[in-house]
Amino acid sequence: MAILDEDVARVRAETDFVQLASEHVALKKVGRRWTGLCPFHAEKSPSFTVNAEEGLYFCFGCQAKGDVITFVREVEHLDFVEAVERLASRANIQLRYDDAAASKDRQKRSKLHEAMERAVEWYHQRLLSAPDAGQARNYLRSRGYDGDVVREFKIGWAPEGWDELARELKLPDDVLTDTGLGFLNRRNRQQDAFRGRVMFPIFDASGKAVAFGGRTLTGDGPKYKNSQETPIYSKRRTLYGLNWAKTDIVQAGEVIVCEGYTDVIGLFRTGMPRAVATCGTALADEHFHVLKNFARRVVLAYDADAAGQAAAERFYEWEKRYEIDIAVAGMPAGSDPGELALRDPDRLRTAISEARPFLAFRLERVLAGTNLRAPVEARARVATRALEMIAEHPSDVVRREYVGQVAATLGFEVERLLMSLPAPGRKVVPIQTRRAAQAEGPEIEALRLAIHQPEWVAERLEEVLFADELHLAAYRALAEANELHEAIDSADPGAAALLQRLAVEEPAADPDDVIARLVEQAVDRALAELESEAKASEERFAELAQVTGWVKLAREQLREPGESIEAANRLVAWLRERAEEDA
Ligand code: UTP
Ligand code: MN
Repeated sequence: MAILDEDVARVRAETDFVQLASEHVALKKVGRRWTGLCPFHAEKSPSFTVNAEEGLYFCFGCQAKGDVITFVREVEHLDFVEAVERLASRANIQLRYDDAAASKDRQKRSKLHEAMERAVEWYHQRLLSAPDAGQARNYLRSRGYDGDVVREFKIGWAPEGWDELARELKLPDDVLTDTGLGFLNRRNRQQDAFRGRVMFPIFDASGKAVAFGGRTLTGDGPKYKNSQETPIYSKRRTLYGLNWAKTDIVQAGEVIVCEGYTDVIGLFRTGMPRAVATCGTALADEHFHVLKNFARRVVLAYDADAAGQAAAERFYEWEKRYEIDIAVAGMPAGSDPGELALRDPDRLRTAISEARPFLAFRLERVLAGTNLRAPVEARARVATRALEMIAEHPSDVVRREYVGQVAATLGFEVERLLMSLPAPGRKVVPIQTRRAAQAEGPEIEALRLAIHQPEWVAERLEEVLFADELHLAAYRALAEANELHEAIDSADPGAAALLQRLAVEEPAADPDDVIARLVEQAVDRALAELESEAKASEERFAELAQVTGWVKLAREQLREPGESIEAANRLVAWLRERAEEDA
Protein backbone atom coordinates (compact mmCIF):
# COMPACT_ATOMS: atom_id res chain seq x y z
CA MET A 1 0.00 0.00 0.00
CA ALA A 2 1.23 3.45 -0.73
CA ILE A 3 0.29 7.07 -0.45
CA LEU A 4 0.16 8.90 -3.74
CA ASP A 5 3.48 10.63 -4.45
CA GLU A 6 1.66 13.82 -5.15
CA ASP A 7 0.21 13.81 -1.66
CA VAL A 8 3.54 13.04 -0.03
CA ALA A 9 5.02 16.04 -1.81
CA ARG A 10 2.16 18.20 -0.59
CA VAL A 11 2.70 17.08 2.98
CA ARG A 12 6.39 18.01 2.72
CA ALA A 13 5.62 21.38 1.27
CA GLU A 14 2.89 22.31 3.68
CA THR A 15 4.50 21.30 6.94
CA ASP A 16 6.14 24.04 8.96
CA PHE A 17 9.33 22.24 9.87
CA VAL A 18 10.46 24.72 12.49
CA GLN A 19 7.16 24.58 14.29
CA LEU A 20 7.12 20.79 14.18
CA ALA A 21 10.72 20.39 15.31
CA SER A 22 10.09 22.85 18.13
CA GLU A 23 7.82 20.30 19.74
CA HIS A 24 10.89 18.15 20.28
CA VAL A 25 13.83 20.53 20.28
CA ALA A 26 14.32 24.02 21.61
CA LEU A 27 15.30 25.88 18.43
CA LYS A 28 17.02 29.24 18.17
CA LYS A 29 17.37 31.27 15.04
CA VAL A 30 20.96 31.79 13.98
CA GLY A 31 21.17 33.71 10.74
CA ARG A 32 18.91 31.92 8.30
CA ARG A 33 19.19 28.59 10.10
CA TRP A 34 17.64 27.27 13.27
CA THR A 35 19.76 25.32 15.72
CA GLY A 36 19.17 23.34 18.87
CA LEU A 37 20.25 20.33 20.89
CA CYS A 38 20.06 17.27 18.73
CA PRO A 39 17.15 14.97 19.63
CA PHE A 40 19.03 11.98 18.24
CA HIS A 41 22.09 12.06 20.43
CA ALA A 42 23.01 13.49 23.81
CA GLU A 43 24.87 16.77 23.59
CA LYS A 44 25.39 19.96 25.53
CA SER A 45 25.99 22.47 22.77
CA PRO A 46 23.67 22.65 19.80
CA SER A 47 24.74 21.00 16.57
CA PHE A 48 21.29 20.18 15.23
CA THR A 49 20.42 22.53 12.37
CA VAL A 50 17.21 23.10 10.46
CA ASN A 51 17.00 24.78 7.10
CA ALA A 52 13.41 25.94 7.08
CA GLU A 53 13.21 26.97 3.42
CA GLU A 54 14.41 23.61 2.16
CA GLY A 55 12.68 21.63 4.92
CA LEU A 56 15.89 19.78 5.78
CA TYR A 57 17.82 19.05 8.94
CA PHE A 58 21.37 18.04 9.64
CA CYS A 59 23.25 17.31 12.86
CA PHE A 60 26.94 18.19 12.86
CA GLY A 61 27.37 15.99 15.91
CA CYS A 62 25.87 12.66 14.91
CA GLN A 63 25.33 13.21 11.17
CA ALA A 64 21.59 12.60 11.47
CA LYS A 65 19.91 14.15 8.47
CA GLY A 66 16.77 14.16 6.40
CA ASP A 67 13.54 15.94 5.70
CA VAL A 68 10.44 16.51 7.72
CA ILE A 69 9.21 12.97 7.16
CA THR A 70 12.47 11.35 8.25
CA PHE A 71 12.42 13.60 11.29
CA VAL A 72 8.97 12.46 12.38
CA ARG A 73 9.87 8.84 11.71
CA GLU A 74 12.96 9.08 13.88
CA VAL A 75 11.60 10.98 16.85
CA GLU A 76 8.24 9.26 16.99
CA HIS A 77 9.49 5.85 15.91
CA LEU A 78 7.04 5.61 13.05
CA ASP A 79 7.25 4.01 9.66
CA PHE A 80 7.07 6.07 6.51
CA VAL A 81 3.32 5.84 6.04
CA GLU A 82 2.60 6.56 9.66
CA ALA A 83 4.85 9.60 9.55
CA VAL A 84 3.23 11.00 6.44
CA GLU A 85 -0.19 10.43 7.93
CA ARG A 86 0.77 12.18 11.13
CA LEU A 87 1.98 15.18 9.16
CA ALA A 88 -1.01 15.14 6.84
CA SER A 89 -3.43 15.36 9.71
CA ARG A 90 -1.50 18.30 11.17
CA ALA A 91 -1.66 20.09 7.87
CA ASN A 92 -5.27 19.12 7.25
CA ILE A 93 -4.46 17.23 4.10
CA GLN A 94 -6.72 14.40 2.98
CA LEU A 95 -4.39 11.66 1.77
CA ARG A 96 -5.16 9.37 -1.13
CA TYR A 97 -3.91 5.79 -1.14
CA ASP A 98 -3.26 3.13 -3.72
CA ASP A 99 -4.61 0.64 -1.26
CA ALA A 100 -7.38 2.03 0.91
CA ALA A 101 -7.51 -0.81 3.45
CA ALA A 102 -3.95 -0.33 4.58
CA SER A 103 -4.50 2.98 6.31
CA LYS A 104 -7.14 1.62 8.67
CA ASP A 105 -4.86 1.77 11.65
CA ARG A 106 -4.02 5.39 11.11
CA GLN A 107 -7.60 6.30 10.54
CA LYS A 108 -8.48 4.52 13.72
CA ARG A 109 -6.06 6.62 15.74
CA SER A 110 -7.44 9.78 14.33
CA LYS A 111 -10.97 8.62 15.20
CA LEU A 112 -9.85 8.06 18.78
CA HIS A 113 -8.35 11.55 18.99
CA GLU A 114 -11.50 13.02 17.56
CA ALA A 115 -13.67 11.20 20.10
CA MET A 116 -11.43 12.40 22.93
CA GLU A 117 -11.68 16.00 21.70
CA ARG A 118 -15.44 15.80 21.71
CA ALA A 119 -15.47 14.31 25.20
CA VAL A 120 -13.18 17.05 26.51
CA GLU A 121 -15.48 19.68 25.12
CA TRP A 122 -18.66 18.03 26.37
CA TYR A 123 -17.38 17.51 29.94
CA HIS A 124 -16.08 21.07 29.94
CA GLN A 125 -19.38 22.62 28.87
CA ARG A 126 -21.13 20.47 31.42
CA LEU A 127 -18.97 21.91 34.19
CA LEU A 128 -19.42 25.49 33.01
CA SER A 129 -23.17 25.49 32.73
CA ALA A 130 -25.07 22.38 33.84
CA PRO A 131 -27.16 22.61 37.03
CA ASP A 132 -25.85 19.24 38.27
CA ALA A 133 -22.29 20.58 38.17
CA GLY A 134 -22.95 23.11 40.92
CA GLN A 135 -21.20 21.03 43.53
CA ALA A 136 -18.15 20.63 41.28
CA ARG A 137 -18.02 24.36 40.58
CA ASN A 138 -18.17 25.07 44.32
CA TYR A 139 -15.42 22.59 44.95
CA LEU A 140 -13.18 24.15 42.31
CA ARG A 141 -13.90 27.62 43.61
CA SER A 142 -12.95 26.46 47.10
CA ARG A 143 -9.59 25.47 45.65
CA GLY A 144 -9.23 28.92 44.18
CA TYR A 145 -10.01 27.95 40.57
CA ASP A 146 -12.05 30.63 38.86
CA GLY A 147 -13.67 30.41 35.41
CA ASP A 148 -10.42 31.38 33.69
CA VAL A 149 -8.51 28.53 35.27
CA VAL A 150 -11.29 26.09 34.41
CA ARG A 151 -11.18 27.26 30.78
CA GLU A 152 -7.39 27.36 30.56
CA PHE A 153 -7.11 23.73 31.62
CA LYS A 154 -10.39 22.63 30.02
CA ILE A 155 -11.54 21.14 33.30
CA GLY A 156 -14.83 19.29 33.07
CA TRP A 157 -17.54 17.49 34.95
CA ALA A 158 -18.66 13.93 34.30
CA PRO A 159 -22.26 13.66 35.53
CA GLU A 160 -23.55 10.91 37.76
CA GLY A 161 -25.74 9.20 35.14
CA TRP A 162 -24.86 5.81 33.65
CA ASP A 163 -24.46 6.78 30.05
CA GLU A 164 -24.85 10.52 29.55
CA LEU A 165 -21.62 10.96 27.61
CA ALA A 166 -22.26 7.85 25.52
CA ARG A 167 -25.77 8.96 24.60
CA GLU A 168 -24.54 12.40 23.66
CA LEU A 169 -21.48 11.43 21.59
CA LYS A 170 -23.03 8.36 19.94
CA LEU A 171 -19.64 6.80 19.32
CA PRO A 172 -19.25 3.40 17.64
CA ASP A 173 -18.75 0.70 20.31
CA ASP A 174 -15.10 0.13 19.43
CA VAL A 175 -14.25 3.83 19.62
CA LEU A 176 -16.00 4.20 22.97
CA THR A 177 -14.12 1.28 24.48
CA ASP A 178 -10.78 1.90 22.77
CA THR A 179 -10.61 5.46 24.08
CA GLY A 180 -11.43 4.24 27.57
CA LEU A 181 -14.35 6.68 27.66
CA GLY A 182 -16.84 3.86 28.20
CA PHE A 183 -17.57 0.17 28.02
CA LEU A 184 -20.36 -2.23 27.08
CA ASN A 185 -22.41 -3.61 29.94
CA ARG A 186 -23.74 -7.14 30.14
CA ARG A 187 -26.75 -6.24 28.08
CA ASN A 188 -24.37 -4.86 25.46
CA ARG A 189 -25.41 -1.29 26.16
CA GLN A 190 -22.91 1.56 26.18
CA GLN A 191 -21.96 2.93 29.59
CA ASP A 192 -19.71 5.79 30.73
CA ALA A 193 -16.38 5.06 32.39
CA PHE A 194 -16.26 8.32 34.37
CA ARG A 195 -19.21 9.25 36.53
CA GLY A 196 -19.56 11.94 39.17
CA ARG A 197 -15.98 13.16 38.76
CA VAL A 198 -14.16 16.43 38.07
CA MET A 199 -12.33 15.78 34.83
CA PHE A 200 -8.75 16.87 34.10
CA PRO A 201 -8.12 16.26 30.40
CA ILE A 202 -4.62 15.12 29.47
CA PHE A 203 -3.09 16.15 26.14
CA ASP A 204 -0.02 15.00 24.29
CA ALA A 205 2.81 17.45 23.67
CA SER A 206 1.24 18.64 20.45
CA GLY A 207 -2.05 19.37 22.22
CA LYS A 208 -4.15 16.40 21.18
CA ALA A 209 -6.46 15.00 23.85
CA VAL A 210 -5.36 11.51 24.87
CA ALA A 211 -6.75 10.73 28.34
CA PHE A 212 -8.47 11.92 31.51
CA GLY A 213 -7.84 11.98 35.22
CA GLY A 214 -11.13 12.16 37.10
CA ARG A 215 -11.25 13.29 40.73
CA THR A 216 -13.97 12.18 43.07
CA LEU A 217 -15.77 14.78 45.19
CA THR A 218 -17.38 12.30 47.52
CA GLY A 219 -14.55 9.97 48.39
CA ASP A 220 -16.25 7.05 46.66
CA GLY A 221 -13.61 4.85 45.07
CA PRO A 222 -10.06 6.03 44.48
CA LYS A 223 -9.34 9.78 44.68
CA TYR A 224 -8.37 9.80 41.01
CA LYS A 225 -9.57 7.49 38.30
CA ASN A 226 -7.32 7.62 35.27
CA SER A 227 -7.82 6.54 31.68
CA GLN A 228 -6.39 3.16 30.86
CA GLU A 229 -3.61 2.93 28.28
CA THR A 230 -4.95 3.10 24.73
CA PRO A 231 -3.50 3.18 21.23
CA ILE A 232 -3.15 6.95 21.68
CA TYR A 233 -2.15 7.03 25.36
CA SER A 234 1.01 5.73 26.97
CA LYS A 235 1.40 6.74 30.63
CA ARG A 236 5.13 6.34 30.63
CA ARG A 237 5.50 8.80 27.79
CA THR A 238 2.91 11.35 28.75
CA LEU A 239 3.39 14.36 30.97
CA TYR A 240 0.34 16.27 32.05
CA GLY A 241 0.66 19.94 31.16
CA LEU A 242 3.48 19.67 28.64
CA ASN A 243 1.28 21.02 25.85
CA TRP A 244 0.76 24.26 27.79
CA ALA A 245 4.15 24.40 29.46
CA LYS A 246 6.55 23.72 26.61
CA THR A 247 7.12 27.30 25.54
CA ASP A 248 8.01 28.45 29.03
CA ILE A 249 10.08 25.33 29.68
CA VAL A 250 12.22 26.06 26.64
CA GLN A 251 12.55 29.72 27.55
CA ALA A 252 13.50 29.00 31.15
CA GLY A 253 15.68 25.99 30.30
CA GLU A 254 13.96 24.35 33.23
CA VAL A 255 11.00 22.07 33.79
CA ILE A 256 9.25 21.53 37.09
CA VAL A 257 8.05 17.98 37.54
CA CYS A 258 5.37 17.25 40.12
CA GLU A 259 3.09 14.44 41.12
CA GLY A 260 -0.41 15.66 40.44
CA TYR A 261 -2.65 17.56 38.05
CA THR A 262 -3.51 20.12 40.72
CA ASP A 263 0.18 20.67 41.42
CA VAL A 264 0.73 21.67 37.79
CA ILE A 265 -2.22 24.03 37.89
CA GLY A 266 -1.01 25.50 41.18
CA LEU A 267 2.43 26.23 39.72
CA PHE A 268 0.93 27.84 36.62
CA ARG A 269 -1.22 30.03 38.82
CA THR A 270 1.78 31.06 40.90
CA GLY A 271 3.54 32.37 37.82
CA MET A 272 5.56 29.26 36.95
CA PRO A 273 3.95 27.93 33.78
CA ARG A 274 6.71 25.40 33.22
CA ALA A 275 5.30 22.54 35.30
CA VAL A 276 4.29 19.03 34.25
CA ALA A 277 3.15 15.95 36.12
CA THR A 278 3.38 12.24 35.64
CA CYS A 279 -0.06 10.72 35.30
CA GLY A 280 -0.63 8.33 38.17
CA THR A 281 2.70 6.58 37.51
CA ALA A 282 6.27 6.93 38.68
CA LEU A 283 8.83 8.99 36.80
CA ALA A 284 10.33 6.73 34.13
CA ASP A 285 13.08 6.70 31.51
CA GLU A 286 10.61 7.59 28.79
CA HIS A 287 9.64 10.79 30.58
CA PHE A 288 13.25 11.94 30.41
CA HIS A 289 13.40 11.05 26.74
CA VAL A 290 10.70 13.62 26.25
CA LEU A 291 11.96 16.21 28.75
CA LYS A 292 15.60 16.33 27.75
CA ASN A 293 14.62 17.87 24.44
CA PHE A 294 13.01 20.82 26.18
CA ALA A 295 15.27 21.65 29.10
CA ARG A 296 18.50 20.59 30.77
CA ARG A 297 17.36 21.28 34.29
CA VAL A 298 14.62 19.28 36.00
CA VAL A 299 13.23 20.53 39.30
CA LEU A 300 11.26 17.98 41.28
CA ALA A 301 8.46 19.54 43.29
CA TYR A 302 7.35 16.53 45.24
CA ASP A 303 5.84 16.12 48.62
CA ALA A 304 8.75 16.45 51.08
CA ASP A 305 8.85 12.80 52.09
CA ALA A 306 8.41 11.43 48.61
CA ALA A 307 11.42 13.44 47.43
CA GLY A 308 13.68 12.33 50.26
CA GLN A 309 12.93 8.71 49.67
CA ALA A 310 13.29 8.70 45.92
CA ALA A 311 15.81 6.18 44.68
CA ALA A 312 19.13 8.01 44.45
CA GLU A 313 20.82 5.68 41.99
CA ARG A 314 18.11 6.22 39.40
CA PHE A 315 18.51 9.99 39.65
CA TYR A 316 22.25 9.84 39.13
CA GLU A 317 21.72 7.43 36.28
CA TRP A 318 19.26 9.77 34.61
CA GLU A 319 21.50 12.80 35.12
CA LYS A 320 24.30 11.00 33.41
CA ARG A 321 22.39 9.29 30.63
CA TYR A 322 20.32 12.31 29.59
CA GLU A 323 22.88 14.97 30.50
CA ILE A 324 20.46 16.83 32.68
CA ASP A 325 20.65 18.22 36.20
CA ILE A 326 18.01 17.11 38.65
CA ALA A 327 17.24 19.43 41.54
CA VAL A 328 14.76 19.03 44.36
CA ALA A 329 12.51 21.75 45.73
CA GLY A 330 12.26 21.64 49.50
CA MET A 331 8.52 21.61 50.20
CA PRO A 332 7.26 22.18 53.74
CA ALA A 333 6.37 18.87 55.40
CA GLY A 334 2.95 17.62 54.39
CA SER A 335 2.52 20.14 51.56
CA ASP A 336 2.31 19.71 47.83
CA PRO A 337 2.57 22.52 45.25
CA GLY A 338 -1.17 22.47 44.59
CA GLU A 339 -2.00 23.15 48.19
CA LEU A 340 0.89 25.56 48.78
CA ALA A 341 -0.09 27.64 45.72
CA LEU A 342 -3.28 28.50 47.53
CA ARG A 343 -2.02 28.79 51.10
CA ASP A 344 1.39 30.41 50.67
CA PRO A 345 2.37 31.20 47.08
CA ASP A 346 5.54 33.02 48.13
CA ARG A 347 6.76 29.96 49.93
CA LEU A 348 6.12 27.93 46.78
CA ARG A 349 8.12 30.37 44.63
CA THR A 350 10.98 30.25 47.12
CA ALA A 351 10.93 26.45 47.22
CA ILE A 352 11.29 26.32 43.43
CA SER A 353 13.91 29.04 43.11
CA GLU A 354 15.99 27.49 45.88
CA ALA A 355 15.79 23.94 44.58
CA ARG A 356 19.02 22.06 45.31
CA PRO A 357 20.82 19.19 43.65
CA PHE A 358 19.38 15.95 44.91
CA LEU A 359 22.41 15.06 47.03
CA ALA A 360 22.56 18.51 48.64
CA PHE A 361 18.88 18.24 49.42
CA ARG A 362 19.29 14.90 51.18
CA LEU A 363 22.39 16.01 53.06
CA GLU A 364 20.64 19.11 54.33
CA ARG A 365 18.01 16.93 55.87
CA VAL A 366 20.59 14.77 57.58
CA LEU A 367 22.65 17.71 58.81
CA ALA A 368 19.65 19.71 59.96
CA GLY A 369 19.74 20.33 63.67
CA THR A 370 23.39 19.42 64.18
CA ASN A 371 26.09 21.99 64.64
CA LEU A 372 29.62 22.43 65.85
CA ARG A 373 28.53 22.53 69.47
CA ALA A 374 26.93 19.07 69.41
CA PRO A 375 28.92 16.35 71.20
CA VAL A 376 31.55 14.79 69.00
CA GLU A 377 29.86 11.38 69.14
CA ALA A 378 26.63 12.85 67.75
CA ARG A 379 28.52 14.68 65.03
CA ALA A 380 30.35 11.50 64.10
CA ARG A 381 27.08 9.60 63.73
CA VAL A 382 25.69 12.31 61.47
CA ALA A 383 28.91 12.34 59.46
CA THR A 384 28.68 8.59 58.96
CA ARG A 385 25.15 8.86 57.58
CA ALA A 386 26.14 11.78 55.38
CA LEU A 387 29.08 9.83 53.97
CA GLU A 388 26.79 6.93 53.17
CA MET A 389 24.74 9.22 50.95
CA ILE A 390 27.76 10.89 49.40
CA ALA A 391 29.30 7.51 48.61
CA GLU A 392 26.37 6.73 46.28
CA HIS A 393 27.25 9.58 43.94
CA PRO A 394 29.15 8.38 40.88
CA SER A 395 31.34 11.46 40.44
CA ASP A 396 34.58 11.72 42.36
CA VAL A 397 34.65 15.51 42.06
CA VAL A 398 31.11 15.81 43.37
CA ARG A 399 31.81 13.46 46.26
CA ARG A 400 34.84 15.44 47.38
CA GLU A 401 32.96 18.72 47.20
CA TYR A 402 30.21 17.46 49.48
CA VAL A 403 32.62 15.82 51.90
CA GLY A 404 34.19 19.27 52.23
CA GLN A 405 30.83 20.82 53.09
CA VAL A 406 29.99 18.14 55.62
CA ALA A 407 33.42 18.49 57.22
CA ALA A 408 32.94 22.24 57.61
CA THR A 409 29.46 21.88 59.07
CA LEU A 410 30.45 19.22 61.57
CA GLY A 411 33.94 20.43 62.42
CA PHE A 412 35.95 17.48 61.14
CA GLU A 413 39.05 17.53 59.00
CA VAL A 414 38.13 16.89 55.38
CA GLU A 415 40.88 14.34 55.11
CA ARG A 416 39.52 12.34 58.02
CA LEU A 417 36.11 12.09 56.39
CA LEU A 418 37.61 11.22 53.03
CA MET A 419 39.46 8.41 54.73
CA SER A 420 36.11 6.96 55.81
CA LEU A 421 34.45 7.47 52.44
CA PRO A 422 34.12 4.01 50.96
CA ALA A 423 34.48 2.98 47.37
CA PRO A 424 31.09 2.98 45.59
CA GLY A 425 28.98 0.08 46.81
CA ARG A 426 30.97 -0.41 50.03
CA LYS A 427 29.86 0.35 53.56
CA VAL A 428 31.06 3.46 55.36
CA VAL A 429 33.61 2.84 58.09
CA PRO A 430 32.17 4.63 61.14
CA ILE A 431 34.02 7.86 61.85
CA GLN A 432 36.47 7.56 64.75
CA THR A 433 35.72 10.11 67.36
CA ARG A 434 38.65 9.68 69.71
CA ARG A 435 40.95 12.15 68.08
CA ALA A 436 38.48 13.68 65.69
CA ALA A 437 38.30 17.01 67.45
CA GLN A 438 42.04 17.38 67.81
CA ALA A 439 43.34 20.71 66.63
CA GLU A 440 46.22 20.86 64.21
CA GLY A 441 49.33 19.84 66.07
CA PRO A 442 52.98 19.08 65.47
CA GLU A 443 52.17 15.95 63.43
CA ILE A 444 50.63 18.09 60.71
CA GLU A 445 53.45 20.60 60.96
CA ALA A 446 55.96 17.79 60.65
CA LEU A 447 54.25 16.45 57.53
CA ARG A 448 54.22 19.92 56.01
CA LEU A 449 57.94 20.20 56.64
CA ALA A 450 58.54 16.72 55.27
CA ILE A 451 56.96 17.90 52.01
CA HIS A 452 58.51 21.36 51.76
CA GLN A 453 61.84 21.07 53.58
CA PRO A 454 62.68 17.37 53.59
CA GLU A 455 66.38 18.23 53.98
CA TRP A 456 65.63 19.51 57.50
CA VAL A 457 63.51 16.73 58.83
CA ALA A 458 63.66 13.60 56.67
CA GLU A 459 66.35 11.97 58.80
CA ARG A 460 64.67 12.83 62.06
CA LEU A 461 61.11 11.61 61.50
CA GLU A 462 60.00 8.15 62.55
CA GLU A 463 56.75 6.24 62.40
CA VAL A 464 56.60 6.11 66.20
CA LEU A 465 56.21 9.87 66.31
CA PHE A 466 52.80 9.75 64.63
CA ALA A 467 49.90 8.67 66.78
CA ASP A 468 47.11 9.60 64.43
CA GLU A 469 46.44 6.91 61.87
CA LEU A 470 45.69 9.37 59.08
CA HIS A 471 48.90 11.27 59.72
CA LEU A 472 50.79 8.03 59.98
CA ALA A 473 49.42 6.84 56.64
CA ALA A 474 50.47 10.10 55.03
CA TYR A 475 53.93 9.88 56.58
CA ARG A 476 54.40 6.29 55.40
CA ALA A 477 53.41 7.18 51.86
CA LEU A 478 55.94 10.02 51.89
CA ALA A 479 58.71 7.94 53.43
CA GLU A 480 58.27 5.12 50.93
CA ALA A 481 58.09 7.30 47.83
CA ASN A 482 60.83 9.07 45.95
CA GLU A 483 58.81 12.17 45.38
CA LEU A 484 55.54 13.80 46.37
CA HIS A 485 53.50 12.78 43.33
CA GLU A 486 54.41 9.18 43.81
CA ALA A 487 53.39 9.41 47.47
CA ILE A 488 50.02 10.92 46.58
CA ASP A 489 49.37 8.28 43.96
CA SER A 490 50.16 5.42 46.28
CA ALA A 491 48.35 6.72 49.39
CA ASP A 492 44.74 5.91 50.14
CA PRO A 493 42.18 8.68 49.52
CA GLY A 494 42.26 10.36 52.93
CA ALA A 495 46.04 10.44 53.17
CA ALA A 496 46.36 11.51 49.54
CA ALA A 497 43.98 14.39 50.11
CA LEU A 498 45.90 15.45 53.20
CA LEU A 499 49.20 15.42 51.31
CA GLN A 500 47.61 17.43 48.52
CA ARG A 501 46.42 20.07 50.91
CA LEU A 502 49.72 20.31 52.77
CA ALA A 503 51.56 20.56 49.47
CA VAL A 504 50.00 23.94 48.82
CA GLU A 505 50.51 25.26 52.35
CA GLU A 506 53.67 26.96 53.60
CA PRO A 507 55.32 25.56 56.71
CA ALA A 508 55.00 28.13 59.47
CA ALA A 509 57.13 26.64 62.22
CA ASP A 510 60.81 26.13 62.89
CA PRO A 511 61.87 22.52 62.19
CA ASP A 512 63.73 22.04 65.49
CA ASP A 513 60.78 23.32 67.40
CA VAL A 514 58.37 21.04 65.50
CA ILE A 515 60.51 17.98 66.14
CA ALA A 516 60.82 18.91 69.80
CA ARG A 517 57.04 19.18 70.22
CA LEU A 518 56.47 16.03 68.24
CA VAL A 519 58.88 14.02 70.38
CA GLU A 520 57.47 15.58 73.54
CA GLN A 521 53.99 14.38 72.64
CA ALA A 522 55.18 10.90 71.78
CA VAL A 523 57.12 10.64 75.02
CA ASP A 524 54.11 11.77 77.03
CA ARG A 525 52.02 9.10 75.39
CA ALA A 526 54.61 6.45 76.05
CA LEU A 527 55.02 7.43 79.69
CA ALA A 528 51.30 7.48 80.28
CA GLU A 529 51.01 4.05 78.74
CA LEU A 530 53.86 2.71 80.78
CA GLU A 531 52.38 4.13 83.98
CA SER A 532 49.07 2.45 83.42
CA GLU A 533 50.76 -0.86 82.56
CA ALA A 534 52.94 -0.57 85.64
CA LYS A 535 49.90 -0.78 87.85
CA ALA A 536 49.24 -4.31 86.67
CA SER A 537 52.70 -5.63 85.94
CA GLU A 538 55.77 -5.99 88.16
CA GLU A 539 58.00 -6.06 85.15
CA ARG A 540 56.62 -2.80 83.78
CA PHE A 541 56.87 -1.24 87.21
CA ALA A 542 60.58 -1.96 87.28
CA GLU A 543 60.98 -0.57 83.78
CA LEU A 544 59.13 2.59 84.67
CA ALA A 545 61.29 3.13 87.74
CA GLN A 546 64.38 2.64 85.64
CA VAL A 547 63.56 5.01 82.76
CA THR A 548 61.43 7.74 84.32
CA GLY A 549 64.40 9.68 85.55
CA TRP A 550 66.38 10.05 82.37
CA VAL A 551 63.34 10.24 80.10
CA LYS A 552 61.96 13.17 82.03
CA LEU A 553 65.31 14.88 81.99
CA ALA A 554 65.75 14.38 78.28
CA ARG A 555 62.22 15.68 77.75
CA GLU A 556 63.26 18.93 79.51
CA GLN A 557 66.37 19.16 77.36
CA LEU A 558 64.25 19.14 74.24
CA ARG A 559 63.61 22.81 74.97
CA GLU A 560 67.30 23.71 75.38
CA PRO A 561 68.75 24.91 72.08
CA GLY A 562 72.17 23.29 72.50
CA GLU A 563 70.86 19.93 73.70
CA SER A 564 67.62 19.54 71.82
CA ILE A 565 68.84 17.42 68.93
CA GLU A 566 70.80 15.00 71.06
CA ALA A 567 67.90 14.61 73.52
CA ALA A 568 65.46 14.01 70.68
CA ASN A 569 67.69 11.31 69.24
CA ARG A 570 67.89 9.43 72.53
CA LEU A 571 64.20 9.66 73.14
CA VAL A 572 63.31 8.52 69.61
CA ALA A 573 65.62 5.54 70.00
CA TRP A 574 63.83 4.63 73.23
CA LEU A 575 60.42 5.00 71.59
CA ARG A 576 61.49 2.84 68.68
CA GLU A 577 62.71 0.12 71.03
CA ARG A 578 59.38 0.11 72.85
CA ALA A 579 57.50 -0.12 69.58
CA GLU A 580 59.64 -3.04 68.46
CA GLU A 581 59.03 -4.83 71.75
CA ASP A 582 55.29 -4.43 71.28
CA ALA A 583 55.34 -5.67 67.76
P1 UTP B 1 -2.28 13.14 45.35
O1 UTP B 1 -2.98 12.21 46.27
O2 UTP B 1 -1.14 13.93 45.85
O3 UTP B 1 -3.38 14.08 44.77
O4 UTP B 1 -1.84 12.30 44.10
P2 UTP B 1 -3.27 15.60 44.34
O5 UTP B 1 -2.74 15.66 42.96
O6 UTP B 1 -2.59 16.38 45.39
O7 UTP B 1 -4.79 15.97 44.21
P3 UTP B 1 -5.66 16.93 45.10
O8 UTP B 1 -4.93 18.24 45.12
O9 UTP B 1 -5.77 16.29 46.45
O10 UTP B 1 -6.93 16.97 44.36
C1 UTP B 1 -0.95 12.80 43.12
C2 UTP B 1 -1.26 12.16 41.80
O11 UTP B 1 -1.25 10.76 41.90
C3 UTP B 1 -2.21 10.18 41.06
C4 UTP B 1 -2.85 11.33 40.32
O12 UTP B 1 -2.18 11.52 39.08
C5 UTP B 1 -2.63 12.49 41.25
O13 UTP B 1 -2.67 13.73 40.59
N1 UTP B 1 -3.26 9.46 41.82
C6 UTP B 1 -3.53 9.77 43.11
C7 UTP B 1 -3.95 8.47 41.19
O14 UTP B 1 -3.71 8.18 40.01
N2 UTP B 1 -4.94 7.82 41.86
C8 UTP B 1 -5.27 8.12 43.15
O15 UTP B 1 -6.18 7.51 43.70
C9 UTP B 1 -4.52 9.10 43.80
MN1 MN C 1 -0.69 15.77 46.26
